[in-house]
Amino acid sequence: MTAKIIDGKQMAEDIRGEVALGVKALTAATGVTPGLAAVLVGEDPASAIYVRNKRRACEEAGIFSETFDLPETTAQDELLALIAELNADARFHGILVQLPLPPQISERTVILAVDPERDVDGLHPLNAGLLLQGQPRFVPATPAGVQEMLVRSGNDPAGKSVVVVGRSNIVGKPLAALLMQKAEGANATVTVCHTGTPDIGAVTRCADIVVAAMGRPRAITADMVREGAVVIDVGINRVEDASRKAGYRLVGDVDFEPVSEKASAISPVPGGVGPMTIAMLLKSTLRAAERAAGSREA
Ligand code: GUN
Repeated sequence: MTAKIIDGKQMAEDIRGEVALGVKALTAATGVTPGLAAVLVGEDPASAIYVRNKRRACEEAGIFSETFDLPETTAQDELLALIAELNADARFHGILVQLPLPPQISERTVILAVDPERDVDGLHPLNAGLLLQGQPRFVPATPAGVQEMLVRSGNDPAGKSVVVVGRSNIVGKPLAALLMQKAEGANATVTVCHTGTPDIGAVTRCADIVVAAMGRPRAITADMVREGAVVIDVGINRVEDASRKAGYRLVGDVDFEPVSEKASAISPVPGGVGPMTIAMLLKSTLRAAERAAGSREA
């Protein structure tokens, strides 16, 4: 079997178009323009690219966006002071602090400082708890993007066996909570594998849908996937490649070519989950603005 490619780039474009329409409708009805504040601490090149792409996507969708660049040496209290200002700034309905943060800053303290009503990343324990209890408010953008990709590609997870490989707070755990809910586009039987799982392949081979989110280049090999499975690759890893001008290329957590000979559908890297993450962040920012404007209850 040769897998159908799940084109995250095209889906993300569609979603960004839908968000742009939602922004227009909200502004027409209430006069409110959704706004996103992105905070970037330090000079990590990958983080800088993510933040730039997020800002561009906001502009295209009609969302006001401002990036706050702080030096690598920023003290935790300085960052907390900025977050307090942003929490009180009515222009910003969403606040995103790009992770990872430098070692002198506690991610946990920062995540707790963001107003849960502006936490479009869905990382605050209140939002994580609401998701776990089946009342999602702000869902982290990557898991939300994975769910949307499954549904839009005709692979509704309902009734399926989904194996998530990876248990991070930003992808694996919220994705498991999202797909196991009794709700549309979910209702799956979810298993989570991680570094403590003795034989990951033995578990993934039973899956109708495998989601690779462990951050190890090409770790999901063809022998770990059953014929006809659907494979979503969340990984973005830089591997050395002397033939490229940059000296590296991006690969996912899935050994793409051999796995695509076995799977029925697969998402590529790049052009899969990455663009969807940005699109879902815009969707959450619109939702935050709608909630603030009182045009949405839940
Ligand atoms: N770093 C990598 N992915 C993300 C994300 O989705 N949100 C934030 N805030 N930081 C990240």
